[in-house]
Amino acid sequence: MIKKTDIYVAIDTESLSDAKNIINQLNYKYCGIKIGKELFTACGPEIVIWAKKKGFKVFLDLKFHDIPNTVMKACVAASKLNIDILNVHALGGKDMMVTAKDAIKDKQIKLIGVTLLTSHDKSYLEEIGLVGSIDDCIKRLAISAAESGLDGIVCAAADIPNIRKYLPNTFIYITPGIRLEKIINDDQKRAANPIDAVSFGSDILVIGRPITGAPNPQEKLIKVYNQINS
Ligand code: C5P
Repeated sequence: MIKKTDIYVAIDTESLSDAKNIINQLNYKYCGIKIGKELFTACGPEIVIWAKKKGFKVFLDLKFHDIPNTVMKACVAASKLNIDILNVHALGGKDMMVTAKDAIKDKQIKLIGVTLLTSHDKSYLEEIGLVGSIDDCIKRLAISAAESGLDGIVCAAADIPNIRKYLPNTFIYITPGIRLEKIINDDQKRAANPIDAVSFGSDILVIGRPITGAPNPQEKLIKVYNQINS
C-alpha cells in the first residue's frame, strides 16, 4: 500500500476574520487546518468549531508543557472541541505525556510530542543544560514520546530517516518547515520541499506562509497536493 501524506495549512493570523478569509479559500478535500498559539489566543475555540463545521480536520498546535495534572486537564478541554490532532512538548517529561495520553485515550485524537523546536540550536541546548547533540536530543525525546504512548512527533523532515528505526512502525511524523522554493533569510532553518519531505517519510506536511501568503492559496494547495500524490 502506498502511504498517503496529508497537508495541514497553518493559519497563523491575529484575527478571526483574517483566519476565516484564508480558510474560506481552501477546500477540506485537500487539507486540514493547523491552529496555533497566535490564532487560538486571539480567537479562542470559536475558530476551531467553525473550521470543523466546514468539514476540515483540525490540528490544535498549542504545545502544552506544564505539570502533568494541568496538561491532562488542558488535553481533556481540547478534546471536547472535536479536534483531530493535539500536541504536547516531549520536554515536559514522561509523566506528563503518559497522563495526557491516558486522559484522552478513548477519543480519536492523535496526541503528538514536539521534540526540539526548529529555532533551537546547540547553544540553546548548552544554555538549558541538555546533553548531547541536536540529533541525540531529538532521538531521545522521540523515544520518550513513543514510550509514553504518544502517536507521533513533530520534527524536521530530514530527522525522520535517522530516528524511525528506534520508533514504532505506526508512529506519525508531522513536519513543519516545508518550503516550495528557497527563501532568503528564512526563519525555518531546516526546511524541506514537499517531495523530499514525503520521501523522508513525513505523514503530515504543515505548510503555512507558502500557501497562506500566495495570491491564490487554493491553487497553491492543489499544486502541492498533486505534486505529492502523483
Ligand atoms: O509559515 P510556515 O510554513 O513556516 O509555518 C510553519 C508552522 O508550523 C507555524 O505555525 C509554526 O508555528 C509551526 N511549527 C514550526 N516548527 C515546529 C513546530 C511547529 O514551524 N517545530
